[in-house]
Amino acid sequence: MTISSGGHVTGVTGRVALVTGASRGIGAAVRDRLAAAGTLVGALDLDIGEPQDPAQVAAFTCDVRDPEAVEAAVRLVEQELGPIAIAVNVAGVLRHGPLAQLGEDDLRELFEVNALGVIRICRAVAGPMVRRRQGAIVNVASNAGHVPRVGLAAYGASKAAVIAFTRHLALELAHAGIRCNSVSPGSTDTAMLSALTSADRAIAGDAGRFRLGIPLGRVAQPADIAEAVLWLASERARHVTMQDLVIDGGAGLTG
Ligand SMILES: NC(=O)c1ccc[n+]([C@@H]2O[C@H](COP(=O)([O-])OP(=O)(O)OC[C@H]3O[C@@H](n4cnc5c(N)ncnc54)[C@H](O)[C@@H]3O)[C@@H](O)[C@H]2O)c1
Repeated sequence: MTISSGGHVTGVTGRVALVTGASRGIGAAVRDRLAAAGTLVGALDLDIGEPQDPAQVAAFTCDVRDPEAVEAAVRLVEQELGPIAIAVNVAGVLRHGPLAQLGEDDLRELFEVNALGVIRICRAVAGPMVRRRQGAIVNVASNAGHVPRVGLAAYGASKAAVIAFTRHLALELAHAGIRCNSVSPGSTDTAMLSALTSADRAIAGDAGRFRLGIPLGRVAQPADIAEAVLWLASERARHVTMQDLVIDGGAGLTG
């Protein structure tokens, strides 16, 4: 699917965005969508990946499990690109299986990256955003943060934490005009989905595992998620805050 890119997007074009998990999958799609709309993107990841358009994207190594690395990366993005107006937390990990089979390392990893990583980045950008009275934050959660899934109890809990955190932060920062929202993708065509299941199985569902399948009959492309992130970051969504947008083709029957 092709989603048109380019064109002026108020609140996005000419601004600086920080995107975590930006080397591949959904994060790379967000990075590229924002860059195509004229945003200067500070792309953070464990591994900075393939070189990107140097006019629009600067890549920085950052492990969101490390509080000092997060503070340093935010300072570096501001020094090199300018004041961060948009922060998009995409970095995430998946550990799945029966809870009894998950180790302590799995649990720590899920919450260090998926929950605390998001909270740390938001903590680092919130102060400067409040001082400037400008900012939009979009955090990537999951439909598993809403809908129970077999084998995803701890992952789902880490994503429910993101949804709740984002709503609380939105309330805390609203006085400065800063908006905070999350998006909750369902099955999306990335390496993370391949680690869990196949696209065909996700679409068909699995009654034995209480999965209903995907009513729209397709898995999402990373660009589908990026388009929603762009909208939430832009002035087009200027009166939208404290929301979670589920983008799962109807899989969770949520609404
Ligand atoms: N793919 C799906 O079906 C799906 C569904 C719902 C939610 N999500 C969420 O979307 C987000 C992106 O998922 P994806 O499918 O693109 O995954 P992915 O595994 O393809 O990419 C995740 C990226 O995050 C980075 N990352 C992991 N740990 C990090 C750390 N400690 N510090 C910095 N970067 C780190 C990885 O290096 C990688 O580039 C995740 O938060 C995921 O939980 C994905």
